[in-house]
Amino acid sequence: MDQPVSRRNWLRAGALLTAGLTVNRSSFGSNLWNPVTANAQHEQRLVNEFARLGLAAPQIKARIAFNENPHGLSPKAKEAIVKAVDSGNRYAMFEGQELKKLIAAREGVKPEQVMLSAGSSELLTAMAVYFTGSAAKGKGGTILTSQFTYDDFLGCSKKFGAKIEAVPLTKEYRYDLATMKAKITPETKLVYICNPNNPTGTVLPASELVAFCKEVSAKIPVFVDEAYIDFLKPEDRPALPKLVAEGHNVFLTRTFSKIHGFAGLRLGYAIGPEKFLDELQDYSRGEWNPSVTTLKAGIASYQDDEWQNFCRTENDKARELLYKGLKDKGYEYVPSYANFVLFPIRMKTKQFEKEMFGNGVLTSTREYNAQPYCRVSIGTVDEMALFLDVFNKIV
Ligand SMILES: Cc1ncc(COP(=O)(O)O)c(C=O)c1O
Repeated sequence: MDQPVSRRNWLRAGALLTAGLTVNRSSFGSNLWNPVTANAQHEQRLVNEFARLGLAAPQIKARIAFNENPHGLSPKAKEAIVKAVDSGNRYAMFEGQELKKLIAAREGVKPEQVMLSAGSSELLTAMAVYFTGSAAKGKGGTILTSQFTYDDFLGCSKKFGAKIEAVPLTKEYRYDLATMKAKITPETKLVYICNPNNPTGTVLPASELVAFCKEVSAKIPVFVDEAYIDFLKPEDRPALPKLVAEGHNVFLTRTFSKIHGFAGLRLGYAIGPEKFLDELQDYSRGEWNPSVTTLKAGIASYQDDEWQNFCRTENDKARELLYKGLKDKGYEYVPSYANFVLFPIRMKTKQFEKEMFGNGVLTSTREYNAQPYCRVSIGTVDEMALFLDVFNKIV
């Protein structure tokens, strides 16, 4: 299966790190949260880290590789963080419960059907250990999924001896649910679906996904990774929490890293059957892991619909700008429902990344069926304009 380029692999690869770039920072237009200042501080830390490792320090003008939120935190979350500073000497006690209650009320499930974590990656690892590496569920087994999807849970399951049965995408770059259903055998332990899918940005029609989950979960658990679900309007989201409330063997993971901008703060959650989450606690520190500061910020951000709407609208605007630029250059793209866009490129992946990086743009690439693709995250409108300037120059 094609391997997506993870943050970890990117840092490991090192090829780009030695590029020795001397690009000057240009100043982008500011908006509500002044992402320029925020990003500049973050990038400076990155540059310092490169220097500490004895590597040439690149100057990054647009960091659009990891599907982060370029607009920063909700003003209310920032306020909550400042107020929470004095609680940092204590373990979190009631904050997790408070956030779980908020999530449960909004999603129509019980608080016991919500489990918090320090980012959803922790939950993906815990699920892999639980399902494929524990005495409770038996080692190994087959995980049914799609090709060209998010590899974290799958990669971890493989380490525990699981076999990954990955079905090709449809020609629209979507999960092929019909073929997946036909591939279920007595060996199939679990189905993993990423929706919206990373790296394609595509979504499954909500009613199709709900019907699939209902039918398949009668036989085996269905795990849906909804890291990017917040980029869909609430009315367009598949009603999977309702399936959990009705007692189906379905569980979801979500993250605050995307629309809430918590990639560095680390907060995520799972929604699933109570008994399953109870057992999963043994493989993760759960709600005791996120810091009290993060939890308080999460409580504020979760209720700040205005900020989420703002980020969604800005994402749409910047994505449209990108679409237009690609079209003008005669490039096709996969229409995206998330904060990144996948499109085929006419250059080898490493060369594309290197040339982009040489012009201060940090982006990412992948290969699928021997075709190279760029997966570019949606930054601010100014960052996308810069991406297009550089893109037009190098292709
Ligand atoms: C599909 C998907 N799931 C899960 C994650 C993990 O995110 P986090 O650990 O920041 O919650 C990511 C991160 O990019 C992702 O793309």
